[in-house]
Amino acid sequence: MSSKHYFDVLIIGTGSAGLMNALQLSDKLSVALIAKDKLLEGSSYYAQGGISAVLDTQDNFQSHINDTLLTGNHLGDEKAIRFMVEQAPTAIQSLEKSGVLFTQEKGRYHLTTESGHSNRRVAHVADKTGKSIQTNLLNSVKKKKNIHLFEGFIAIDLLMKNKRCYGAYILNKSSNEVESFVAHKTVIATGGASKVYLYTSNPDTSTGDGIAMAYRAHCHIVNMEFTQFHPTCLYHPHAKSFLISEVLRGEGAKLILPNGDTFMHKYDERLELAPRDVVARAIDSEMKTHGFDCVYLDLSFKDKTWIKSHFPTIDKRCLSFGIDITKQPIPVVPAAHYTCGGIQTDINACSNIEGLYAIGEAAHTGVHGANRMASNSLLECIVFAKACANHINQQTFEQSSLNFDNWDASRACPSQEKVMVTHLWDEVRRIMWNFVGIVRSNKRLHAARMRLSQIQNEVNEYYHLYLISSDLIELRNLIATAQIIVKSAISRTESRGLHYNKDYPHTSTNIQNTVITL
Ligand code: FAD
Ligand code: SIN
Repeated sequence: MSSKHYFDVLIIGTGSAGLMNALQLSDKLSVALIAKDKLLEGSSYYAQGGISAVLDTQDNFQSHINDTLLTGNHLGDEKAIRFMVEQAPTAIQSLEKSGVLFTQEKGRYHLTTESGHSNRRVAHVADKTGKSIQTNLLNSVKKKKNIHLFEGFIAIDLLMKNKRCYGAYILNKSSNEVESFVAHKTVIATGGASKVYLYTSNPDTSTGDGIAMAYRAHCHIVNMEFTQFHPTCLYHPHAKSFLISEVLRGEGAKLILPNGDTFMHKYDERLELAPRDVVARAIDSEMKTHGFDCVYLDLSFKDKTWIKSHFPTIDKRCLSFGIDITKQPIPVVPAAHYTCGGIQTDINACSNIEGLYAIGEAAHTGVHGANRMASNSLLECIVFAKACANHINQQTFEQSSLNFDNWDASRACPSQEKVMVTHLWDEVRRIMWNFVGIVRSNKRLHAARMRLSQIQNEVNEYYHLYLISSDLIELRNLIATAQIIVKSAISRTESRGLHYNKDYPHTSTNIQNTVITL
């Protein structure tokens, strides 16, 4: 017999967005906070560079707004950007209140910089900003009696009735039972979908689950063609998903070819600090032209003690692979890093479905446009998590008398064909990397669309025949998200920001979002 739980609020995801959201909810509300993996696992934990905010007297809100709009190739929503930028200093205070100690120098924040920022405005905790944010937020959450944590619980689908959301069906991974979590308000905080690509800076949790669930529930999904490829991930056969922060380039590191020549001057006058889409395409072009496996990032000309104090995590990780960043250049390649698109929300994080909110990387608030500016993501997570909580706190909560059927697994049997799941996982990710990557063409996009649609049929058949598992849930979401990305990419008949199609190399004067619905 599967169990049913009743809460006022169900938050799916314990990244920085989910944790901050839970913390800001009224103590009077009963809250379920669920994570499909360990509570700390997710992109937030691995964030290195920092979080942007106007904290210096030389800086101002308008400059942060303009930089964000420009980096987003003017597709961003100015109202949402202004809201985020103006809330940023308060967001930093909320993090400090939970115990985050941002790196200081001479009694002030040590502010660093990355591409797109015309002022130093990136607050950070050395190069482990995400780890500090996550551990402090989680400690604060654990002190709250109204918040109930569920680790190793993976959401499958939303509980819908009369076009309204009332929670979700969730697989308890240790008992293998599907449990119903019934809630007045449901918040999707499941992070991005970069695992849809073969090479990514993201942890295994980024399989687009929330976006796919919302799509199946008829949410509007916006601008999914804009996958951000981070220019510099460590290139080493044993280094899975390790990022080399853009802050290294912010602090002067140079991109070089194996012979030591620089090359960014051929692509953009902003050199290493050109926007990420430009730098990633430049590296891709050099690798393809010369047949190189990687390029190199060199910071070794800087003082050794300075490097070690500013980049302790990167230094230690590279040393574990025999690379001494104080003495030699680091081999790097671009990899999928961030999902700019997502579930359409307004400034209060409300989706177009009643009872359903989305925050963090899973959401499309409109702040990133066609390319996210560095360190604006953690900021978006915190600002909109708080706005969402404020909105929920103002609602009235009535006793729910609604009845939902338990999950029906009576016709499913254990699978003897698990190889199907692992094979299709790999195939989807290769198709996306090879056909829907940094540089796209109509031919490759249409080839991807055809094969993905066959895979979708194979996955559907498997899903209905066999007992559900975590891998199968993720594969189903991965294929749904991949198809949304391809559909969005095909419908954009221009190149803008992160979406570059060589059959439409120009940027249109007609500025439009791509909206996909079921
Ligand atoms: P995540 O932190 O990814 O958390 C997602 C949560 O959802 C996890 O708890 C996961 O278990 C859970 N989940 C997912 N699916 C399900 C499901 N089906 N059921 C239950 N739970 C589920 N941004 C910056 O602004 N500054 C930086 O310096 C920076 N550095 C980065 C470095 C790296 C290596 C990476 C990968 C990203 C970086 N980013 C940075 C981006 C930023 O970290 C992320 O966009 C942001 O942390 C996303 O937070 P989130 O809360 O939305 O999702
Ligand atoms: C980085 O440190 O390079 C990542 C920053 C970001 O994604 O905003």
